[in-house]
Amino acid sequence: MKSRKLILAGSAAMLMSLTLLAQPKPWVVPDSFKTMKNPVAVSDASKKAGQTLYTKNCASCHGKAGLGDGVKARSLKDFPGDFSKTEFQTQSDGELFYKTKSGRAEMPKYDGKLTDEDIWNTVVYMRTFKK
Ligand code: HEC
Repeated sequence: MKSRKLILAGSAAMLMSLTLLAQPKPWVVPDSFKTMKNPVAVSDASKKAGQTLYTKNCASCHGKAGLGDGVKARSLKDFPGDFSKTEFQTQSDGELFYKTKSGRAEMPKYDGKLTDEDIWNTVVYMRTFKK
């Protein structure tokens, strides 16, 4: 009877992980990043620099206006997010910096591809998508 109990426990665990998979996975950002301040000041120059970087590296998935509707978005499994939404814009600069730097799954990791300053410039630019 012991094996039957094990099978039952196994199926329950599988069901639970399936339900978890169907939900958007929380993206945990370390506190040390969350509280980081953007060293790049908001200015026309940093917005412009951010826009150039964003158009070149990010718009193909995230869309020109950050709505998650870039040309590549349709072939992705995960929705890249809507950057105009409050849930996105209420995240701290450090959270957006961390997610861009480290990536996960289909979101590329920009650590080593963009300098920290460039990532901060794109953070400044992503703020312009706020509705
Ligand atoms: C190949 C497609 C692709 C490219 C290119 C891409 N991303 Fe993403 N991005 C994604 C996907 C998919 C997600 C959702 C990932 C997840 O939740 O696991 C995401 C998530 C994010 C998030 C977190 C969104 C949230 O709601 O918290 C940020 C910030 C982000 N991307 C910034 C960028 C920046 C900045 C660039 C360019 C430097 C970029 N991405 C380039 C696909 C992409």
